[in-house]
Amino acid sequence: MVVGASDSEAREFATAFRSFLEWVHDQDGARSRNEVAALVSDFLGDGASGLSVVARSLPVFEQVNLQTALNAWSAEPGREVAVHGISVPPHHAPVSLQQLITGEGMPPLRLSAPALVDLPNGPNSTLACLRLAALLVNDEHGRYVVMVIGPSEHHQGLAVEIAGLSVDAAQAVHARLGELRRALNVYRGHVIEVGLSQMGAVTLEFGEIPATAREDVVLPEAVLARVERHALGVAAHRDALLEAGQHLKRGLLLYGPPGTGKTHTTRYLVGQMDGYTRLLLTGRALQAIGSAAELARELQPAVLVLEDVDLVAQDRSFGPGSSPVLFDLLDAMDGAAADADLLFVLTTNRADLLEPALAARPGRVDVAIEIDLPDPDARKRLLALYGRSIPLQLSEHETLEIVERTDGVTASFIKELLRRAMLESLHDGPSAPVVTAAHTSRALDDLLDSGQRLTRSLLGVGNDPESLPAGGGLGSLPPQRGPNRASYVQARASLRRIDR
Ligand SMILES: Nc1ncnc2c1ncn2[C@@H]1O[C@H](COP(=O)(O)OP(=O)(O)OP(=O)(O)O)[C@@H](O)[C@H]1O
Ligand SMILES: [Mg+2]
Repeated sequence: MVVGASDSEAREFATAFRSFLEWVHDQDGARSRNEVAALVSDFLGDGASGLSVVARSLPVFEQVNLQTALNAWSAEPGREVAVHGISVPPHHAPVSLQQLITGEGMPPLRLSAPALVDLPNGPNSTLACLRLAALLVNDEHGRYVVMVIGPSEHHQGLAVEIAGLSVDAAQAVHARLGELRRALNVYRGHVIEVGLSQMGAVTLEFGEIPATAREDVVLPEAVLARVERHALGVAAHRDALLEAGQHLKRGLLLYGPPGTGKTHTTRYLVGQMDGYTRLLLTGRALQAIGSAAELARELQPAVLVLEDVDLVAQDRSFGPGSSPVLFDLLDAMDGAAADADLLFVLTTNRADLLEPALAARPGRVDVAIEIDLPDPDARKRLLALYGRSIPLQLSEHETLEIVERTDGVTASFIKELLRRAMLESLHDGPSAPVVTAAHTSRALDDLLDSGQRLTRSLLGVGNDPESLPAGGGLGSLPPQRGPNRASYVQARASLRRIDR
């Protein structure tokens, strides 16, 4: 026994060693006895060994599209397809078609019912997809084998291999499958969250966006109207714009302090853009911008929402010396054809970090819109909006008093304030709660209390005690991740220049 190994490790080793011995033993005449190899070579006949296997690898997120394409392709008239599952013993890499044909270095394979992985092919549906299978095909090209090799424990990729055809014919089959994958792409028109796996592979998930009504986005009317005009207006007039030779591709930057509704606004936009493929990227997933932009081009009309782009302003995808992810991102925005109906929406609360990159790569963002702290009118509307779902009873005078006391807070602060006011009222009498000015005021005192600095910071309201005027208002506060107010103001000035 190996020193230090646990019982289970020792057992695992013994099992692996036994299967290794079986494998060595099986190698004598493996070619003649392996039923999978026998099936393939019988089907292809003698000529096959002189023909190349032509393989194509695909990103793993294409597995569900590949299966959709294969299903449609198998049903095309004039084609017979027999699907055979291949079962590979544990701890073995999947076998390739080349190996099956030459019979070299093969693990003890068995024919089986095809192993399937059930993958989402819509927000509420799934499709069973082949993991490892050989498709014996007979059609106008003749007899050939298409092998599907899906991701597994030892193989993170997805590949389609074709044997038994001339290179030209095999390429034509690959091209037809590619065409079907594009035409039937299950992601088209949906909200998709783009992510990155541990191994760095791009992942796609069907997302859901809670419906956000226009009146639930509390911004000055002129600001919201500009956002809409730029994002939705172009979509509404795309035919007329194209006819007039105008480009459709557009980049919109929403910038401003945390908690002011940048993400909230993108959700509203995304909800309005039915029929668009809507790709959402945030944080580390922003590194997947290359694949996401390619996908968007293929699935246009499309929107790419790139959240908190400042997070990658200083990251470099391949270590020091390589280009910053932010530059890749801006380059991806430029790569699309001008007549592609693509909208890029970027958000940041570090306009200062972004501004130099935007200046160095002009033309990507054509409108930068500041989403600022709510003004008194907006704060009043926010109180009404978030007071809707609680039994809030405030007179006009009391409302104005709270509006005045909350000068300098963010929209998310007001939301939290009302949540706490509700708790205060429940605390007083849980039976039939009514949220009064006294509750709201107590909640506000508590939030403004110096002991609540961290909470305030989490709500996007700054910590600088000097910006807390004696009257209880919070003054105008710096962005949370920003180094200081001065650089924020400077960046704001240059973004306004971009915005003309
Ligand atoms: N302008 C607004 N109108 C209505 N609700 C808002 C507004 N701004 C923020 N909220 C509420 O506060 C929550 C947090 O705001 P949001 O995530 O949009 O802020 P953000 O500007 O994206 O901040 P960050 O810069 O930290 O990403 C929202 O989900 C929403 O409920
Ligand atoms: Mg946000």
